[in-house]
Amino acid sequence: MNQIIPIASDHGGFEMKEYLIEQLKKWGYEVKDYGTHSTESVDYPDMIHPLATAIENGEYPLGIILCGSGNGAQMTANHHHGVRAALCWNVELAELARRHNDANILALPGRFIDNETAWDMVQVFLNTPFDGGRHTQRVEKIESLLA
Ligand code: RB5
Repeated sequence: MNQIIPIASDHGGFEMKEYLIEQLKKWGYEVKDYGTHSTESVDYPDMIHPLATAIENGEYPLGIILCGSGNGAQMTANHHHGVRAALCWNVELAELARRHNDANILALPGRFIDNETAWDMVQVFLNTPFDGGRHTQRVEKIESLLA
């Protein structure tokens, strides 16, 4: 079965989301689209929380979220247990987010990067494993040291 990639955005990330969905399908992925479905103004938590809940519940290993800056989407997702959403704007950051942080959501700033860069980042994010080793206890402490 093909890997299913959940993706969500607000209006600020809508056009990039549509482009990424097209690319993902072209390259054989299945996509679960949590919206939004137009450029009409919406509130990003309405789309991001359902996707982050699915990641939290183990329905998908990795996901992609977007808004204009990427900040609102990332902040929303990171309220969920077990979610590590990384705001990235180049390929190297997307790779490091997987290798060092075991990020399970890639947050993209739809208004600040181009579609081709975003697609390159998505491919790297989906195909880079966690390095483990010294990074494991650091990642575990993100939640275990919470007061
Ligand atoms: C929407 O205008 C914009 O505020 C939103 O996409 C995002 O950048 C919020 O963090």
